Amino acid sequence: MTTSELVVTYQPRGAALKLFKSKDSEILLDGPAGTGKSVAGLFRLHLACLKHKKIRCLLIRKTGVSLAATTLRTYEENVAEHALSMGIVRFFGGNARRPPAYQYRGGSEIVIGGLDKPEKVLSSEYDIIFVDEATELTETDWETLHSRLRHGKLPWQQQIAACNPSFPHHWLNKRPSVTRLISRHSDNPKYVNEDGTFTPEGRDYMDKLDKLTGVRKLRLRDGKWVAAEGLVYEDFDPAVHVIDPFPIPDEWTRYWVIDWGFTNPFVCQFWAQDPDGRLYLYREIYRTRRTVDQHCEQIAQLVMENPVKDEDEAWRGTWKEPQPYSILCDHDAEDRQTFENELDLSTDAADKKVDAGIQTAQARFRLADDGKPRVYFMRGCVVSIDTDLRESGKPTSTIEEVPGYVWDIKPGGELQERPRKVDDHGMDGFRYLCKELDQGSQPRYRSFRY
Ligand SMILES: Nc1ncnc2c1ncn2[C@@H]1O[C@H](COP(=O)(O)OP(=O)(O)OP(=O)(O)O)[C@@H](O)[C@H]1O
Ligand SMILES: [Mg+2]
Repeated sequence: MTTSELVVTYQPRGAALKLFKSKDSEILLDGPAGTGKSVAGLFRLHLACLKHKKIRCLLIRKTGVSLAATTLRTYEENVAEHALSMGIVRFFGGNARRPPAYQYRGGSEIVIGGLDKPEKVLSSEYDIIFVDEATELTETDWETLHSRLRHGKLPWQQQIAACNPSFPHHWLNKRPSVTRLISRHSDNPKYVNEDGTFTPEGRDYMDKLDKLTGVRKLRLRDGKWVAAEGLVYEDFDPAVHVIDPFPIPDEWTRYWVIDWGFTNPFVCQFWAQDPDGRLYLYREIYRTRRTVDQHCEQIAQLVMENPVKDEDEAWRGTWKEPQPYSILCDHDAEDRQTFENELDLSTDAADKKVDAGIQTAQARFRLADDGKPRVYFMRGCVVSIDTDLRESGKPTSTIEEVPGYVWDIKPGGELQERPRKVDDHGMDGFRYLCKELDQGSQPRYRSFRY
């Protein structure tokens, strides 16, 4: 490659190759994890913007934060890295009127955004739209985006979705107007050679997927649209229980729940309770490979204005939100002590009784007489996505644990009375809180130092 000439090396195979040959207006790239779906969709946009002048594309996910943590990294590191380093593509950070975008020398651009902030991205018209992780969208989201597909600078317009399989009756699995391209690991030259054998990286990647269990394994390794059998929270419905974030009134009581972990994720959930008793998960830390003091520093940054350490080595600053009424923790004496010292807050040991905890949690998912459930999860509330977990196909948030949280199965196939102890870190925290609030445990004393 000379300094003046951009050489793009991309070898699409299978579903990715079919994508480049298709002019159909709705396309779904559907397959297990790591088959090259995101790369294919991104190259579709990138090559179109390099080839054509003044076209406008949209790269979008349900939330802007999740787009930045996943798909944009792939774009910058694996798709447009040379074009960016040569200045053929530049990043524009957005302003009051215009959303952020990758701008190409010929006047084309890829606008980026999340459907959680739709105003700026939906006020424009586009030639190609690529929705990554499209099962997160509602069918109305998809159709709203489709109505923006009329920029007319290309003779054809196209809306592309990429996703891993979800439950069988998901709207995307049933939409008749979508051309479905089935993507498989054999489509990805990084993992599978031309002759069908795995590359060393592919072998490592498949080893990770082989370690998954249950419905996640069937979806992310085998690419099957399946629902879990023996779901613990059968009433969970993302359309009902997962809601867009909103500012929480200061009067609502806050609870924090912590499940310690280092190799397994450390989970700290931040809950608010409205005056009718409904719970809202409004923030969570879900991370592997960080120590408790590192988590405490992050928590201090999240809840305090300019936190600094005081003479007792505890974080101190003006609180930006109400202090938690209770911090319920898993029973690890050393981690609890570190946490209490670092933040100068006291913690309570959670009541870990499984049956009672689950029954109270199940009840919260059901719709009450007012037509509303007693628990909500705010979309995109995880502070940052743990890319190691994501790359190994593990859940990266409490919400992602729910569809795979199932009862254990005895060797004979009979369901046990206990959930399977896999990918349940956020589930444990949720259950502790429900037990605490709904099955009146001992009254607790609270005192805070200001
Ligand atoms: N044609 C290709 N040539 C070389 N490397 C590729 C190709 N397609 C994908 N890859 C690489 O394979 C890895 C997985 O690709 P990608 O992220 O696109 O998969 P995906 O199907 O979107 O995965 P997920 O289902 O987890 O979102 C990335 O590191 C990517 O750079
Ligand atoms: Mg992807």
